[in-house]
Amino acid sequence: MSIKVNQITDWVAEIIDFDAANMTTEMKQEVEEAFTRNHVLAFRNQTLTPTQLSEFAKKFGPLEIPINRLYIHPECENVLILSNEIRPDGTAVGLVDGGDGWHSDSSHIRIPSKATILQSIKNPDLGGDTLYCNMELVFTALPRATKDLITGRFGVHNVSKILNPRMTVSANRPDAKEFYENAAKTKPSVLQPLVRTHPVTGKSSVYCSPRFTIAIEGMDDNQAQPLLDELFGYIYDERFQYRHIWSDADLVMWDNRCLNHKATGNLAPGDIRRMHRTVLAGDEAYYQSPVR
Ligand SMILES: [Fe+2]
Repeated sequence: MSIKVNQITDWVAEIIDFDAANMTTEMKQEVEEAFTRNHVLAFRNQTLTPTQLSEFAKKFGPLEIPINRLYIHPECENVLILSNEIRPDGTAVGLVDGGDGWHSDSSHIRIPSKATILQSIKNPDLGGDTLYCNMELVFTALPRATKDLITGRFGVHNVSKILNPRMTVSANRPDAKEFYENAAKTKPSVLQPLVRTHPVTGKSSVYCSPRFTIAIEGMDDNQAQPLLDELFGYIYDERFQYRHIWSDADLVMWDNRCLNHKATGNLAPGDIRRMHRTVLAGDEAYYQSPVR
């Protein structure tokens, strides 16, 4: 092995003594193998420029262009700035409310994301952790009747918080109300399978989230909303979670095909958190009955 992989949990590992800016073909293959065995990889001590971050991410596949053009890094259109910093003129340096509800990145578009690579640029003194929920473990834990009820059904996903009674529009983000009102009119809902098959491992996971899933196709809300609440209850269960407490210069790569995640916030007033995000494009989500 030319990379060092330390298991943190059964499905989370850290990669140490690694330089993302100088990854060889052999190292990339080992990272991909580690990413098949784990859903979250934390590369320690990475100081990449936005362009280097984009180049590293592109080695694992094509990237998504962020839909929110306001907060793209000026040096690289593939990198989105996440930050709570507000300039003296009232404008935001980056996306203030990124990740403030449990979700899987880009499930609101037809071809959702494969993975996200997030780089810590400025860590706050307190708070700013990221929570991950292993949706394969959630699927395994469901009662048989619930598995049968959701398998083969589709969730309705939409990016607009205006259409989602479980979400509130952040008052801290200057353009949020306008953005989500516009999105409600211009970004149509998409259908995603409620049970998703991982295209590499073949494992089943629950694929829905409080942030983006607003209904179940062909199911009356009287039945669908309590069912979604039941599913979301598992996401909030710490047994299925991993909390990433960021170290300076962490670069974390996670698998959106079998995880939900959430930014925990809780920063001290005036403390700044800044991250750079790249998102790997994925494949259409599908469900395939496992071979028994
Ligand atoms: Fe996210």
